[in-house]
Amino acid sequence: MEHVVLIAAIGENLELGKKNQLIWHLKDDLKFFKEKTMGHDIIMGYQTFCSLPKLLPGRKHIVLTHRNINFPEGVIVCHSLDEVKAYIKSQKKDCYIIGGASVYREMLDDCEKMYLTKIEASDKEADAYFPNFLESEFEMRTLAEHQENNICYKHLEYVRKKR
Ligand SMILES: NC(=O)c1ccc[n+]([C@@H]2O[C@H](COP(=O)([O-])OP(=O)(O)OC[C@H]3O[C@@H](n4cnc5c(N)ncnc54)[C@H](OP(=O)(O)O)[C@@H]3O)[C@@H](O)[C@H]2O)c1
Repeated sequence: MEHVVLIAAIGENLELGKKNQLIWHLKDDLKFFKEKTMGHDIIMGYQTFCSLPKLLPGRKHIVLTHRNINFPEGVIVCHSLDEVKAYIKSQKKDCYIIGGASVYREMLDDCEKMYLTKIEASDKEADAYFPNFLESEFEMRTLAEHQENNICYKHLEYVRKKR
């Protein structure tokens, strides 16, 4: 689907999070996330929304949930995947899928591009994982390599090959 961009930071075993929090806190990765998503719509599951300390400035938040509860002003609520896809189509511009595990799983086949931060570390206590995907379906290029707190990680761009 046009305009669907996934962005995630993953460990060596596709680890995404534990106890509804990120596992690694890497300054330059947060900066990368901010640069990529700034000014765009960001789409997330309810658990990821709850894990944010506050609304992220400069980005429209779209939250997937089955709940009928009040959200902060400005947040757009979608109650199904079809609703999210209709929203993305109506925007005609890039929308960023920012997690978590369940939403990546549901949207991976639809994405045209992914920004993955691959972190050279693992955590056996992780309880949320990025879905397996076929690297061969994408053209990959390395955007940057970093080292922080003795952890090496890379920013990679994956563009889906023509189907
Ligand atoms: N490393 C990274 O880049 C990264 C990025 C984001 C998140 N994370 C981590 O990922 C973990 C959270 O992932 P998660 O899978 O547990 O939660 P999630 O995907 O953030 O949220 C799951 C919730 O989203 C709603 N939802 C999902 N699909 C839906 C659909 N089709 N229709 C309606 N509602 C839908 C449901 O909410 P209701 O229960 O309200 O119906 C569901 O319980 C956390 O540990 C977080 O820190 C990591």
